[in-house]
Amino acid sequence: MSITITTLKESKITKQVVIRTKNTMYVLGIFADRFPVHLYYGKKSRSADTGYHPFERAFSPYYPECGWDYMPNTVESEYPYFGMGDFRASAIRVRDLSTGSDVTEFTFRKMKKYKGRVAIQAPIYGELPYAEADEDTETLEMILDDTVTGCELHLFYTVFPESDVIARHMTLINKGKNTVSLEKCMSLCLDIKRDNLDLISTYGGHGRERMVDRHTVSYGVHRITSRRGASSHMENPCIILCDPKASEERGEAYGFNFVYSGDFLDELEIDQTGKTRVLVGLGDETFSWRLEAGESFTSPEAVMTYAPNGIGEVSRNFHRFTRKHILPPEPFERRPVVLNSWEAFYFNIDGKLMEDFSAGAAEVGMDLPVMDDGWFGARRHDRAGLGDWVATPELFPDGLAAFVERVKAKGDKFGIWIEPEMVNPDSDLYRAHPEWALSAPGRVPLESRNQLVLDMGNPAVVDYLSDILGKTFNGIPFDYFKWDMNRHLTGVYSNILPPERQKEASFRHMCGVYELFRRLRAMFPNAMIENCSGGGGRYDLGMMKYSTQIWTSDNTEPVDRTYIQYGSTLGYPVTTMSCHVANHDSSIEDPRKLNYGFRVAINGPLGYELNILAASETAKATMSEQIKEYRAYEHLILRGDFYRLLSPFECGRYSYYFVSEDSREILLSYLQNFDDAKKTVYKLKISRALPGVTYRDTISGKTYTGEELRRGIEVESDEKGLYAVMWHLVAEA
Ligand code: DGJ
Repeated sequence: MSITITTLKESKITKQVVIRTKNTMYVLGIFADRFPVHLYYGKKSRSADTGYHPFERAFSPYYPECGWDYMPNTVESEYPYFGMGDFRASAIRVRDLSTGSDVTEFTFRKMKKYKGRVAIQAPIYGELPYAEADEDTETLEMILDDTVTGCELHLFYTVFPESDVIARHMTLINKGKNTVSLEKCMSLCLDIKRDNLDLISTYGGHGRERMVDRHTVSYGVHRITSRRGASSHMENPCIILCDPKASEERGEAYGFNFVYSGDFLDELEIDQTGKTRVLVGLGDETFSWRLEAGESFTSPEAVMTYAPNGIGEVSRNFHRFTRKHILPPEPFERRPVVLNSWEAFYFNIDGKLMEDFSAGAAEVGMDLPVMDDGWFGARRHDRAGLGDWVATPELFPDGLAAFVERVKAKGDKFGIWIEPEMVNPDSDLYRAHPEWALSAPGRVPLESRNQLVLDMGNPAVVDYLSDILGKTFNGIPFDYFKWDMNRHLTGVYSNILPPERQKEASFRHMCGVYELFRRLRAMFPNAMIENCSGGGGRYDLGMMKYSTQIWTSDNTEPVDRTYIQYGSTLGYPVTTMSCHVANHDSSIEDPRKLNYGFRVAINGPLGYELNILAASETAKATMSEQIKEYRAYEHLILRGDFYRLLSPFECGRYSYYFVSEDSREILLSYLQNFDDAKKTVYKLKISRALPGVTYRDTISGKTYTGEELRRGIEVESDEKGLYAVMWHLVAEA
């Protein structure tokens, strides 16, 4: 039982809720049967201080009947509303359109708990992505109401005990007579009873996704946000807050993330009493939602975890949670090794070339050739064709179906690239339906990569796309789709919405994107989707709900990849992190570079992105061996627990290990990007090694005791960079 609700007598806190996960505890209370207050989030412990400690401070408004025992401005709140005495960032702001007032006061009415969870229903189309329940999942649902607007607020806390994760979302129901507008809608609020926390977030751009930033949060408001209509390369909704002294395996840390792929906001504020407020939800600058009497709105889901033992533990909690509750079931017995055509040929593809390319892939043991961009309409370059999802007849003279049949006869699986949310102005689709593109009235739409964004909030657009993709791919046994998205949203204005609903356009767009994902998955239940947005521009839990893996970055240069991959593992499991060996400046013909590219790439599901037809026999033989080696470790890479040891951001080296659940098999990797004349020595400490057990390294044949591994394997850096060492440590019987 994860949730207990207790009624307390003779206490200011009249009800107490305790939520327990495997290692953590979350406690909230109801003050005087009226106000939900936060009491504790931390390590599961009987001696934890879960008491209510009111904090009096001048210039803080109060309710006369509560005296200084309850001040909205200083209390740790479960879900702060705007305009009634809490001057800090609020979780919800609702405007009564009959009066223009933004003031609300949501007070407690009742709560219940139940096994499992409720689905998150989007206001249009079907569901929003959310974490799937299992037999241990329980939910607390708390209902509050605001008597003046008549709005009812439902707060959901869904517990995933094994992963130490609590998911939160809200539903607002307009039970009043007047129309209201939801102006700010956060899915999660956590008031942490301390300041001086470090914020770890990932920032970046195209080709440099998820660079790690760590700094102590100072006073004032700090916002990590996207207004791009995508979670984006620039910021990522996953953040970690930790003690400034916290390391990978020491110190307390909190993790937060959002199960959504569009505009988001992570808002932090330290108040005058030294508390840190964390809010996670929809970006308030690009969102509002109008609710007529009787209508409701449900937010996407936010997730949080607490780890007493370091940043690495936050990552592992999120890894376990994502693998178990977010990602779709594995479509194949083993994850296919992909060979992608993009860096090999760019747009210069045709059916014959792709057949040869696929045969070349099969020859070296690659399972899934992918025909990337350039196979449809007038798409011989990036200036035309997006939207016209019909195979170009000149490229496939006897049709796409006959071509795929021939390809699959020679190999095993086959995949294809699509970018359904987009349209080139030079396309039949745009000529027929210019009004389907997002564009503000009276303004010339801004192009980006020569393309515009379709209004996916318009059901006619989603229907067109699912129809045309369904027809073009009808009966063709594709095993894989690479779903790309190569520009962000500007001039966000939907031609089907009235003026008063225009701020809904971005959220509606995202709902339509998810709906098309669901339709594609329903049409091709046996295929996997690799998500992509100009590399890893939508590397988020919303996309992971529908995608088996995500293209981590368009930057396939191995040194750069060590940074990008390190940052990606902070919040996301490596099983999603698609990693390709590419052929930069003929690097695959240089054994050292080919080896380093591979050692960097087996940090996640392996793939290749090069012209296999131009590769030498030696390079092909090496790649065959690499695939065999990857297969030997794949179970650890895709399902093992993941520990980071050295950060490229700190020392230009990336070291990590995977370990089986029983700690009897370990795959340790040391990657050194740069030359080091000093020959520095590093100790790679395997804290999960079992004392009293001897491990044999199947690569060098050396043996180590568990104690030795815990003290650390010493590795001396090489004079030359691009140096990689691996240990595959297996416990002897
Ligand atoms: C951007 C992707 O990240 C690349 O891998 C490739 O698919 C191109 N788009 C194709 O246009």
